[in-house]
Amino acid sequence: MSGHFSSPPHLILGGDALETAAGLLPTLGSKVIIITDPGIVAAGIHQQVVDVLAGSGLPIHTYSEVVGNPDVETVAAASAAREAAGADVILAIGGGSSIDVAKAVAVVATNGGSIADYEGVDKFTTPPLPVLVVPTTVGSGSEVTKGAVITNHETNVKMIIVSDLMFPRIAILDPRVVAKLPGRIAATTGMDALTHAIEAYVAKGANPVTDAINLGAIEIIGKNLVAASKGDPDALYQMLVASSMAGIGFHDAGLGAVHALANTIGGHFGIHHGTANALFLPYVIDFNIPSAPARFARIAQALGEDVTGLDDIAAAAKASEAVHRLAEETRVPRTLTELNIPEDAIGKLAADALEQADLPGNPREASLDDLVTLYRRAL
Ligand SMILES: [Fe+2]
Repeated sequence: MSGHFSSPPHLILGGDALETAAGLLPTLGSKVIIITDPGIVAAGIHQQVVDVLAGSGLPIHTYSEVVGNPDVETVAAASAAREAAGADVILAIGGGSSIDVAKAVAVVATNGGSIADYEGVDKFTTPPLPVLVVPTTVGSGSEVTKGAVITNHETNVKMIIVSDLMFPRIAILDPRVVAKLPGRIAATTGMDALTHAIEAYVAKGANPVTDAINLGAIEIIGKNLVAASKGDPDALYQMLVASSMAGIGFHDAGLGAVHALANTIGGHFGIHHGTANALFLPYVIDFNIPSAPARFARIAQALGEDVTGLDDIAAAAKASEAVHRLAEETRVPRTLTELNIPEDAIGKLAADALEQADLPGNPREASLDDLVTLYRRAL
């Protein structure tokens, strides 16, 4: 199988990343619409970004009604706001939800119709409007990936819209916008980043280039996730960079069973994506170890585990131990019961997870029974 690696977004990182991006804005268009959520406005981050971007001299409009697990209707409302503003540059401020809505709005702006018309891979032909991203959480990696996840309530699934044309133009990693990220959000979104890097490192599409980036991300996350969940500003910035690295590392390598299980409970029960990933990650590691023990041993090492003198299987087991410990120390939910997901939902959830686009990338084939068992372990 041939490997792939692509990373078109221009990454600007560091203390004056926003100022640098403001200088580039006039080369991309003439009117900007910011797409964000009410929490970012309330936290003052939106104003913080606007104050710097005003230096570009471009008019700046804002749509700030994005919700978690954004749906087709959210994209339609944000698209109407973009059209009313006449904006030709889209700038997302937020986590995966705002970023995915911005990407979807950019597609609809030049291709027309509803985002539901473009579900799947390469379903549109006109290049979308340019998208810039200021990530404010430390997990989705959406600022560097070529797809968006949008919920379709008509079919009750999280649609995936993917195209090489959907890479954001610029990802702006500025420590100032994550400095006050609440610990709980740092923990759950950071767990999403960790899941990306681990799943991609063992995925069927992994190659030496993605391996280097994913291992690097795992190491940074292992060192900084707990401190970030306690509000340490430098650890939060390290996590911001690592989550973009994991995004670059997974979009060609692919993901696996954790995302298949997590996206399904996201679609059915609206569970936060990072929370859902954190729940399943250690159990899927245990399930996958027989398919790639040496790789999981390397993950354990990258997470700081001492594997001296251990064979690969014993060392690999330390990878799931390390993830259990990270989950405990960052206080993310640990069971489906805590999330109010009843046992009798498992049959239907497993059947839907079996159809998820991420599942075929998993290094070990997972049957319906395997998925039922994995959901049960998380009860
Ligand atoms: Fe994810």
